[in-house]
Amino acid sequence: MIDLKNEVASLISSSVEALDLDTVYGLLEYPPDEKLGDVSLPCFKLSKTMRKAPPAIAAELSAAIDVTDSVFERVEVVGGYLNFFISHAEFAKSVISDVISSENYGSSTMGNGKTVVFDYSSPNIAKPLHIGHLPSTVLGNSLYRIYSYLGYNSVGVNHLGDWGTQFGTMIVAYKKWGSKEEVEKGGVKELVRLYVKFHKEEENDPSLRDQARATFAALENGDKEAYELWSWFRDLSIQECKRIYDILGVEFDHYTGESFYEDKMMPVVEELRQKNLLVESEGAQIVDLSEYNMPPCIVLKSDGGTIYATRDLAAILYRKKTFDFDKCIYLTATQQNLHFKQIFKVTELMGYEWAKNLIHAPFGMISLATGESMSTRSGVTIWLEDVINQATAKTLEIIKEKNPDMENKEAIAKQMGVGAVIFSSLSTSRIKDVSFSWEDALNFDGETGPYVQYTHARACSVLRKAENVTGNITKLTEDAEYRVARVLYDFPAKIVAAMENNEPSVITRYVIDLSREFNRFYHDCQINTDDEEVKQTRLAITLAVKQVLSKGLWLIGLEAPERV
Ligand code: ARG
Repeated sequence: MIDLKNEVASLISSSVEALDLDTVYGLLEYPPDEKLGDVSLPCFKLSKTMRKAPPAIAAELSAAIDVTDSVFERVEVVGGYLNFFISHAEFAKSVISDVISSENYGSSTMGNGKTVVFDYSSPNIAKPLHIGHLPSTVLGNSLYRIYSYLGYNSVGVNHLGDWGTQFGTMIVAYKKWGSKEEVEKGGVKELVRLYVKFHKEEENDPSLRDQARATFAALENGDKEAYELWSWFRDLSIQECKRIYDILGVEFDHYTGESFYEDKMMPVVEELRQKNLLVESEGAQIVDLSEYNMPPCIVLKSDGGTIYATRDLAAILYRKKTFDFDKCIYLTATQQNLHFKQIFKVTELMGYEWAKNLIHAPFGMISLATGESMSTRSGVTIWLEDVINQATAKTLEIIKEKNPDMENKEAIAKQMGVGAVIFSSLSTSRIKDVSFSWEDALNFDGETGPYVQYTHARACSVLRKAENVTGNITKLTEDAEYRVARVLYDFPAKIVAAMENNEPSVITRYVIDLSREFNRFYHDCQINTDDEEVKQTRLAITLAVKQVLSKGLWLIGLEAPERV
């Protein structure tokens, strides 16, 4: 694979003895404006060792190197900069042949031997997935793929919220107002009905709260009836979640939820005690974090019960022991920033230097454009499945209108409807707050998943129509051809940037850019021409674009249909 910085660094280091490859490589930049070249060497940092003014250094280097036989066409000295300009044809040729000849363009071995655990989706169960679960689910799934592509061993964990007082609530509500038949019939939606009813009734009868607490305590103490109901509700919920994950194309290696740590918490509490980290406060056992400007991390409540943080601490130690991770990355909304800061700090205070490899990658909150705040309790929610169904129905309408004779319309509509939903969730940088509106969710114009999928299908169709595609790139004639190659060149670096920042939006933006550049090329350059060399060159470009779009879509969790 060609690496422009490497080309420049080796040109310079092989002609100038005083400069070694790594030093030069580290100084190189990609100029913001192409008029300033494609790669640039700022000579300012060299002036100390070379004892000359930067412009003089630039001039000296320029005289020393010879660009014939390189991908560069010329060098220019501008002030203290030495600017390299690539030869468009040579460069495009080399990039496009790189893409077509490699099975997994942009993949890498940089992560080999390293394990990364992803904690994503992790819904509180006994209710269906709602729109608020979308970002964590699709971010985690995409990062899982991005890291795997770079050679890491990715481990996907769904840390289900399947333990805690809300299960006491569910059991009480079920016993008071529910029935086996209704739950069997209505599934998780029936559980939600019971949950909402509980909170309504609770307003008039506060003792319900105590009953729920007592029931959860019974569950924790192994009460058989409570356990059986809990485990039934849990199975139902997981089944329901899996159905939606299937539609989204999302998978997990482990469904180890909070309940999984029930028997792993006391050893952690003991360890904290032995390390003198626990103090009593108002009857509760806490780790004092005031020195770090944080409220205390509660480990045991005053009634001796464990909480969310206790289970997360147990999970951290379990994961380290089980997976020996290099990084463990949590995808949740910014709301939980403090929680993660606290438990990561506690891990560090326990003496684990690897606590620095625990990473919270937060994302902005989803609110409703109507201004209402979302809450299952009050019954104001947008179920994820409804969003997917509506997006799919809308795609089907569009397909029926534009392409009435197409085969398996339903399947394609699903791929694109789901694609639209995932893509929109990944298209802004993680941290931005988003407000959900049906209008935006169902607006497929512009920079959307379906636009990229459509472009991919267009490339497929061009290739299908050509009798043969040799992959020979012998005659580049138009600037639009080079432009496509220039964007293709960026793909490997974008994947690394997406990984380093845990930011799949780098890829969503990239596939849009590539689609736009390809569509421009498609518009400007006739592919099916009489000049066989030009034609084969353009087909090769089309093939390279098809391959990279399909990989790019895969990295963000979208299907790449061949016909739309
Ligand atoms: N169940 C939590 C929620 O819905 C998210 C869990 C995130 N993962 C974790 N290990 N705490 O807010």
